[in-house]
Amino acid sequence: MSHGNKQQWILAKRPQDVPDPSEVVFQEVAIPATAAGMVLVKNHYISLDPAIRLWMSDIPNYLPPIPIGDPIRATVVGEVIESGSDDLSAGDLVFGLGGWETHSTAPAEFWTKIPSDSEFPLHYYGNMLGAVGLTPYFAIVDVGQAKAGQTMLMSAAAGAVGSIGGQIAKLMGLKVVGIAGTDEKCQWVVDELGFDDCINYRTTGDMEAAIREKCPEGVDFYFDNVGGEILDAALLNMNKDSTLLFCGTISTYNATEPVPGPYNYWQILAKTITVKGYLISDHFHRVVEGQEAMSQWLKEDKIKFREHINEGIENCLDTYNLLFTGGNDGKLMLKL
Ligand SMILES: NC(=O)c1ccc[n+]([C@@H]2O[C@H](COP(=O)([O-])OP(=O)(O)OC[C@H]3O[C@@H](n4cnc5c(N)ncnc54)[C@H](OP(=O)(O)O)[C@@H]3O)[C@@H](O)[C@H]2O)c1
Repeated sequence: MSHGNKQQWILAKRPQDVPDPSEVVFQEVAIPATAAGMVLVKNHYISLDPAIRLWMSDIPNYLPPIPIGDPIRATVVGEVIESGSDDLSAGDLVFGLGGWETHSTAPAEFWTKIPSDSEFPLHYYGNMLGAVGLTPYFAIVDVGQAKAGQTMLMSAAAGAVGSIGGQIAKLMGLKVVGIAGTDEKCQWVVDELGFDDCINYRTTGDMEAAIREKCPEGVDFYFDNVGGEILDAALLNMNKDSTLLFCGTISTYNATEPVPGPYNYWQILAKTITVKGYLISDHFHRVVEGQEAMSQWLKEDKIKFREHINEGIENCLDTYNLLFTGGNDGKLMLKL
């Protein structure tokens, strides 16, 4: 059965810097027939995540590089149109690994069914109840083994992962100091989300001194979303036997030159810091457990969040690049 055409963004060339429309190209193609084992989904929301930029390049990663000519890979939320699998049926709502396109065809195992009696809006599954909310949940509660009374430093604190992570840490009894790129973002995480303090890294100047001032007792847990100079400043403030949870390094994702390692790498030895590389995909088998915890906090109004939702598949690339200027206010998504 023909389903007409779909619009999509494909990878024409590996980007050299912030991706541009000569490297990531918009096109219209026919929707392929749905083969056995495959599922055709009409996408309603596309989650725009920093990691996609790394999938566009060909450096070794936890997923293979997006092949040249393929749609840009992304987590999407949508509705099954046609199913070649007994596990899903037309009309089911799902989230999973699709692409920057109006319709995605992917193997049935790539999709997770959203309960038909879910009380949450669909876009929550691209955010709080999808990989974004579960990322800081497992990072803090499980992998990082955060403890009440510790001091946590959180970079990209007003972003999707950072803003939720800081609130989880507060619920667990930690002191949390954020780092963000505008005064307004800093004010939001302190006044609305309950962080203890926040540093505007764009205006502060000496980051090492600013962290020391806000965390005079030292940092027990650095939740690193950005890498680069902020990581170097954090390292000089880490306590003995502290934890560095390495979640992301967005300051380097568009680097055009080789990225130096942290200049203060030796602090890991001097302070016997435990560095934990972290991947949410290692915890996908525990999605239900994470969703239950997040759902409960949402119902009790214990976690707040912002969503930045732009509309229209043709705006996907411009919207995506907001991540690298701090132009997004909260979880960035595209609505179709
Ligand atoms: N390991 C995992 O499994 C996993 C899963 C999800 C996400 N992540 C990582 O978590 C991090 C945050 O992702 P997200 O989806 O929550 O994005 P986000 O924080 O909502 O958006 C990215 C934010 O990063 C900040 N930023 C951009 N360039 C920066 C720079 N050069 N220096 C400092 N800050 C910069 C900007 O905020 P400001 O205005 O504050 O600068 C921007 O708003 C990323 O590194 C991502 O790769 C990891």
